[in-house]
Amino acid sequence: MPAVHAKRRAGPRTLRLAVRGFGHVGQALARILSDRGAGLEREFGLRLVVAAASDSTGAVWSQAGLDPADLLNVRTAGGLGRLAADRGSASASLPAAAEQAGCDVWVDLSPTDVRTGGSALEETRWALRHGLHLVTANKGPLVVAWGELHRLARGSGSHLKYGGATAAALPTASLAHYELAGSRVTRLEAVLNGTSNFILTAMSQGRDYATALAEAQTRGIAERDPSLDVEGVDTAVKLLLLCNSLFGTDFALQDIPRQGITDVDPAAARAARERGGGLKLVARAWREDAAGNAPAPVRCDVSVRELDSGHLLARVNGTEKGIVYETDLMGRLAVVGGGSGPMPAAASVLRDLINLGRELGLSD
Ligand SMILES: NC(=O)c1ccc[n+]([C@@H]2O[C@H](COP(=O)([O-])OP(=O)(O)OC[C@H]3O[C@@H](n4cnc5c(N)ncnc54)[C@H](OP(=O)(O)O)[C@@H]3O)[C@@H](O)[C@H]2O)c1
Repeated sequence: MPAVHAKRRAGPRTLRLAVRGFGHVGQALARILSDRGAGLEREFGLRLVVAAASDSTGAVWSQAGLDPADLLNVRTAGGLGRLAADRGSASASLPAAAEQAGCDVWVDLSPTDVRTGGSALEETRWALRHGLHLVTANKGPLVVAWGELHRLARGSGSHLKYGGATAAALPTASLAHYELAGSRVTRLEAVLNGTSNFILTAMSQGRDYATALAEAQTRGIAERDPSLDVEGVDTAVKLLLLCNSLFGTDFALQDIPRQGITDVDPAAARAARERGGGLKLVARAWREDAAGNAPAPVRCDVSVRELDSGHLLARVNGTEKGIVYETDLMGRLAVVGGGSGPMPAAASVLRDLINLGRELGLSD
């Protein structure tokens, strides 16, 4: 089967997307494309067309592109499998739909399974083998098969973009790759999980753990099963992806020592705040060689730490996140903030699509 690349297609300023998963983030992306599609075309010279899509009810495709308005209503209408025949053609799978529709980019917004990669992994392999570029918010396939997916991408000339999987609205890996290019990152420290940071902040203000968690769940910040967040797994997964991306490691999840926030004493959270700092779930990675030289091993961990008032992450509160890089040539840099939730996540996917368009010479 021939590789499909944007540059080879007629209409060179269009990216044709195959979107896997139309849940919260997919719906938010459909909303952005519906509201801003024409504006994006004017500003960046790039047309983003959802030409194929799937959810757990089925896969559909359309040569002309699926209508964003249909995609917005798809959940209430019972899923993509129920999209009327005149709105798109049904297909046995998203790979088959993507092929029919001549897609250039595989956009993975389907559920994360960090233990096995889930069914998304096999379809991601398919996409990269067939020369589609990958833009993903799904951490699972990257965590389980980082090296393999990168080898597949190199083999077919595909680009990989995963800002949605590495803290989404907070620029992390992309910041290091673009803005720190040429310098060596010698160390990073980060608050990468908005749910546990919200709970720790609430505890520093006097709530106990159970009350803070219940508040996070009521506000839709924490899942009904919050274990991946509060046990530090989500933070460890993001740290793994950052290490593999920035330090060239090939870490697996079990290589990241981790602690969660479930045993934190509320008195300790309050005391840290009274001293002017804060208790945070901190992801850290550093090279053993202070100059950041590549052969030196990379160490990393996820742990609850008291940050003093001078630390750049001490006042990252609530659902906000932050990252501090230490570099050999550019000194210390920090980014803090960024929204959490489906819309900021979808916006990070959009950012990756626009930057992919730039790398391919398609967008301004
Ligand atoms: N939500 C956030 O704030 C956020 C932030 C950053 C990253 N992410 C990541 O983004 C991804 C999507 O998150 P979400 O909140 O949108 O999840 P979600 O609301 O649970 O949506 C998941 C979507 O994937 C579909 N799906 C399930 N199995 C599928 C399959 N085998 N093939 C194709 N589609 C399938 C679901 O279909 P049905 O609706 O038919 O079940 C649903 O449309 C996840 O990997 C998540 O970790 C989310």
